[in-house]
Amino acid sequence: MTSVLFVCLGNICRSPLAEGVFRHTVEQAGHSDRVLIDSAGTGSWHQGHAPDPRSISVAASNGIDISGLRARQVKQDDFDRFDLILAMDRDNLAALRRMCAAEQTGRIRLFLEDPERDVPDPYYGGADGFQDVYKLVRNGCLDLLEDLRLA
Ligand code: 4NP
Repeated sequence: MTSVLFVCLGNICRSPLAEGVFRHTVEQAGHSDRVLIDSAGTGSWHQGHAPDPRSISVAASNGIDISGLRARQVKQDDFDRFDLILAMDRDNLAALRRMCAAEQTGRIRLFLEDPERDVPDPYYGGADGFQDVYKLVRNGCLDLLEDLRLA
């Protein structure tokens, strides 16, 4: 069993989308019983909130329902519980590295590492930004499936 935590700032736009897309990708590959998937935010403002309606919408238009997810903040035991902690951008990568113990930094990396790249924060933009985020997340999830040897 591998466990993967996707992390952005608010846990309402990018990381719940990544959680839903990766869960769907893993299900389609027939490996749901081999991966535990969750998401969280480095910030606390949106705890308990559903994903942003624009993330729900772009997921739904690709056949994925993320409306039942609820935001939460990263907590200390996440650094013990998850094998892989994937930051959606470099700011959140830095925030995660500050939060954990030195020996736990090996579990943390950028979600899009090849080429090393941020999933941009779409919160203050329009629907186009969410479409772009979806494409990056979808491609990143396919790469992750291969990295974890589940493809
Ligand atoms: P996320 O997007 O980190 O992808 O969930 C954001 C959501 C909320 C805020 C910023 C980014 N905010 O400033 O409230």
